[in-house]
Amino acid sequence: MAVINGLWAREVLDSRGTPTIECTVWLDNGGVVATSVPSGTSIGQYEALELRDNDPQRYDGLGVLKAVEIINTQIAPRLVGQNPTEQAKIDQLLIELDGTENKKNLGANTILAVSQAVLKAGALSVGKPLYFYLKQLYQLTDYLSIPTGVYTLVSGGEHGAENLDIQEFQVIPASFIEFDKSLEMATNLFHQLERVLITKKVTHSVGILGGFTPTLYSNTDVFELLTETVKTSRYVLAQDLFFGIDASAQSFFTGNKYLLRDKGGGYKADELLKYYKQIRDLYRVFYIEDPFREKDQKYWAALMEDLGSQVRIISDSLTATNLKRTQEAIEKKLANTLVIKPNQVGTISETIEVIKLAKSANWQIVVSHRSRETNDDFIADFAVGVGADYMKFGPPNRGERISKYNRLLMIFHELKQAQNSSQTAQTQSASTSNNS
Ligand code: PGA
Ligand code: ZN
Repeated sequence: MAVINGLWAREVLDSRGTPTIECTVWLDNGGVVATSVPSGTSIGQYEALELRDNDPQRYDGLGVLKAVEIINTQIAPRLVGQNPTEQAKIDQLLIELDGTENKKNLGANTILAVSQAVLKAGALSVGKPLYFYLKQLYQLTDYLSIPTGVYTLVSGGEHGAENLDIQEFQVIPASFIEFDKSLEMATNLFHQLERVLITKKVTHSVGILGGFTPTLYSNTDVFELLTETVKTSRYVLAQDLFFGIDASAQSFFTGNKYLLRDKGGGYKADELLKYYKQIRDLYRVFYIEDPFREKDQKYWAALMEDLGSQVRIISDSLTATNLKRTQEAIEKKLANTLVIKPNQVGTISETIEVIKLAKSANWQIVVSHRSRETNDDFIADFAVGVGADYMKFGPPNRGERISKYNRLLMIFHELKQAQNSSQTAQTQSASTSNNS
């Protein structure tokens, strides 16, 4: 059995040029793994806290040298000699070392960098791919498959450029379509949308995820553009694909209204509810994330009551990968699908507990990237290994998103090979028993 020989952290940059933490683990058998953690832009109020240097002389105060120091001087000595497959024990040590509910002492970024590195080291020590190791360790799924993709093609809100209010407009290939084909569909539609924007002379750029940020009069105009994009492609709406949104509604709530530019003066919560029902009927919107701010639970419940049997209603900022908040959302029937972002809570073990709870309540799971990513493809293996229903890794554009999709292509290939060899073995054993 391999043990941890050393652990070392350093400051690196994320996809926005903002510091984040990379953590490397060495095993005594010579194996080495490294991993880095992402960060959000629309960070919810219930998320665990990140530790930042707050030194205005460096990176606008966003440096992570304190976090790096904590890992190298306080955490690393405690982990040397430990078995990396003892994830629960090591995560508990990290939780106790921090000693707070919201990880404010060590920082969720500090803790996750270590927790994630230990998980990767555990997989390496038993010689298994990370997704397979996760399946064996937690048994959250009976079989391995690639989750359905939720591909953000258009960005607004805090991910955009004051162009639109809704944060993400997505295409979701039908779940029966195999991953290689669905990824091809998403890239095809992304490129086709660019042609539509250029032909229509819509001013556009790309936002922080790499999705388009067209300047439009209303949020519903995006659906018109997307509908046209699909019509000029080889795909059929509501057959091959559906649309989705991450409203991230707390970001456009001001005063007592939801300020969508679609209507002068904005929308009261009950009017916003009607707006969602309209876009659902008109544009086949199948996925609605964070439709209201966290306080408007009454309207979350009303939306579930009206659309919950046909539409995925997804909670992200409302639940923040937090066990208690997820329990409450389940009891109150506020959604039917849960976003999982390990950095909202800090350790892999706590993330797994939240997934278990959601699955036991028959909620579906979306494993999600963050808007500020690195090229680490960790989250791709994580989504497969915990048996997520959906994965949300951004537009098929820019290296830090593509690294996840390329990793999924590799996993897809490995799963196909495993399936083929088990079929061949079955056929061989059937023919052997027929012959005997
Ligand atoms: P964030 O956005 O990473 O900026 O929080 C992603 C999301 O809201 O789903
Ligand atoms: Zn979200």
